[in-house]
Amino acid sequence: MTVIRGATTITQDTPEEIRAVVAELLEQIVSRNALKRDEVLSIVFSSTSDIHSFYPAKAAREAGFASCSLFSAQEPEIDGGLALCIRVMVFVEKNIVPHHVYLRGARILRKDLAQKYNIAIDGPAGSGKSTVAKLLANDCHILYLDTGAMYRACALAAMRAGTDVSDEVQVCELMRDLSLSVVYRDGVQHTMLGDEDVSHLLRSPEVSMAASTISRHPSVRMKMVEKQREIAGKMSCVLDGRDIGTFVLPDADFKFFLTATPEVRARRRYEEMLAKGEQVDFETLKQEIAARDEQDSTRSLAPLKKADDAVLIDTSDMTVDQVLDTIKRKMQEKI
Ligand code: DC
Repeated sequence: MTVIRGATTITQDTPEEIRAVVAELLEQIVSRNALKRDEVLSIVFSSTSDIHSFYPAKAAREAGFASCSLFSAQEPEIDGGLALCIRVMVFVEKNIVPHHVYLRGARILRKDLAQKYNIAIDGPAGSGKSTVAKLLANDCHILYLDTGAMYRACALAAMRAGTDVSDEVQVCELMRDLSLSVVYRDGVQHTMLGDEDVSHLLRSPEVSMAASTISRHPSVRMKMVEKQREIAGKMSCVLDGRDIGTFVLPDADFKFFLTATPEVRARRRYEEMLAKGEQVDFETLKQEIAARDEQDSTRSLAPLKKADDAVLIDTSDMTVDQVLDTIKRKMQEKI
């Protein structure tokens, strides 16, 4: 007999989520251990004491584990323990080397089993990549690295210093002494110039355009790319940008390229800015996005481009949830 261990987490205590994560966990256990469902003798679940809405055992029954015996128990409340966690022991008849499966927030319980992985999401402005990248990182409990913010911070530093962002020599000089770093507080990225957190100063149209211009200089790109590779080399993360799949991490485990029609992308940015209370003219914004597209995709070093092995998703007629579901499905298919 073999016993396979596993665990997963939910974000909300609802029957729907319990059904979904239990089905996903059991499916992964079965597929990673090359099992047939009728080889499973019994499944024992334990869930943390903050879960009340549904029996994981019932979710297993609904997921098609019809003939084995099932049992759910509640764990004691332990200070500092993982919240909303469902653990499982799957007993199977044959003797195999077990592949234990830890998913979602439970990955941190078994760091030895969790592999580091990177997800590259590239695409033009307004394609929805940052919204989706943030949600995906949250869902996978990994870091989100907004590489655009790094180029924006370079642009801000140049604007403050009176540097002409299109002048290679001036920009190169600026980059030599630029102290730019990315720190995380409560999982949120803060982009720093020296000791100053400039994250809230990076979204203006002027900074956007200057970022696009400054990012074409090799002195800027190589410095930023080095930092991006260093972060991605240390931990699992979702990176969004223009050149992640082609240049920064050509060996990223998962690659996506999001796009949308220029009209839709401009509309999204327009609504985003209106919601923030910023006055903006739609036509001007559309022109600015077109100018950035042109500049980002025609520069000689690491231009905006879909990697050959990236999954292309046209988000023009999709909701954020639909894009997220498509990405997660594609990742699942690849695992
Ligand atoms: O993603 P964003 O709109 O915040 O990016 C701002 C500019 O930075 C973008 O117009 C081009 C540049 N950029 C880049 O060249 N490479 C990246 N990986 C990310 C952004």
